Amino acid sequence: MDLNDAIPNNIGLADRPRLRTVLRQFRSDYLDWWREAGPQGFDAAEAYLRMPTGVDARGWANYRYVKLPDYRWGLYQAEPVAGKPAAFGRPAGRPLLDAVPTEFRDTMIKLLVTQADTEPASVEQSCLLGHGIPSLYDLRNLFQINCEEGRHLWAIVHLLVEHFGKDGEREIEGLLARRSGSAEKPRILNAFNAPIEEWLSFLFWSTLADRDGKYQLLAVSESAFDPLARTAKFMLTEEAHHMFVGDDGLRRVVQRTAELMREYDTDDVAPHGGINLATIQRYLNYWAPQTIDLFGNELSDWSEVLFDAGLKGRPYESERYDEHVALDAPISVERAVDGRLVADSVPMRRALNEVMRTTYLGEIGGVVAGWNRLLAKQGIDFAFRVPDKRFNRRIGVYRNFHFAPDGTPVSAERFTAGLAEWLPSEAERAHVKSLMQPVHEPGKIAGWIAPPARGIDGKAPLDFEYVRL
Ligand SMILES: [Fe+2]
Ligand SMILES: [Fe+2]
Repeated sequence: MDLNDAIPNNIGLADRPRLRTVLRQFRSDYLDWWREAGPQGFDAAEAYLRMPTGVDARGWANYRYVKLPDYRWGLYQAEPVAGKPAAFGRPAGRPLLDAVPTEFRDTMIKLLVTQADTEPASVEQSCLLGHGIPSLYDLRNLFQINCEEGRHLWAIVHLLVEHFGKDGEREIEGLLARRSGSAEKPRILNAFNAPIEEWLSFLFWSTLADRDGKYQLLAVSESAFDPLARTAKFMLTEEAHHMFVGDDGLRRVVQRTAELMREYDTDDVAPHGGINLATIQRYLNYWAPQTIDLFGNELSDWSEVLFDAGLKGRPYESERYDEHVALDAPISVERAVDGRLVADSVPMRRALNEVMRTTYLGEIGGVVAGWNRLLAKQGIDFAFRVPDKRFNRRIGVYRNFHFAPDGTPVSAERFTAGLAEWLPSEAERAHVKSLMQPVHEPGKIAGWIAPPARGIDGKAPLDFEYVRL
């Protein structure tokens, strides 16, 4: 581990002059991008952030105050496991690969660039959020996530440069030039062009989209292309905190709403500075389909080819599956035939995107079940529902059909009319925005969200100066 380098790393950068030269140039371009597109208005602030220190028994990171532009973005990979064979696809059982076979180079570059592009995109989407945040604890979490998404860009740029030479280097410019929501140079995936305008939406984003990120990383964490697998494993250690921020943040919102409902004996807590449960449900309905779309078409040649090549597998490949090569077992998917949906059975290898989406939705279901347990404990008769995967899709077989959030087919007219009750209204959005007044004092928190149960790094939950402004 070399933490003293301008680019801290555990990849032996000191002994690789060519890689080092390219990454030094990247560092300078990256910092320009960060200033222009990263968190706006907090350059002088010092945030109490964790930074990687290595991969050993003492843990992998420690905490200290740092100005955001001085965050130590660096390059880290999980340690190699000696003698470990490839886990799936044709290479299964054979030695891991240090390079991508020629015939898959272009495919792998496309996969890496698509993943890398989401990292700076998510920083851009949230670059103004710091100005409406409910506590210093939450502000710190925002900055932590922003910095780590930036580091994820570094992680993939490293793979592109080290393993794909000039072809990989050519992609760097675009990664720093595209902008979330830009008409001329938008980010690659649609969901990453939607603005995130307030902290409630960011919490949904962290629960839903960062969890998509987790699944994409899990799917390559056993790749036969070992540098990618080890890079992804390290990224997963950071990603866990991003989902915690979303999951626990939303739990805190639900909890606060429940408290206000009991205190004022009403379902309508908006006049008392809270967010109604029905509004939270509508925000869930709004964000969920966009992230469900991120898994792509139900049937995918591209995913089948990547699996067969041993490059991208299923999440929890070794842990949850017995058969890792043929994937002949039938699974059920819906297909459009003559303008109608029919159930069809296909070999699992044809529908790997759907396999990943199903696992993801199961996990989201677990998160929402936790909110429902919290409500039940408080004696509140309300249950959140994850919208059915058929609802309001833009990608895949369901995009040409109309469904209610519970998955029931409806007419086009009913669907259009229904959106007004299923998605947040203008008035609800305005109310939520009106609550987003910044609270920048240690020990204080806004009235629409409960305090965290625990602080970061053993500090007090609220009464600690998580950001020195
Ligand atoms: Fe990320
Ligand atoms: Fe993330």
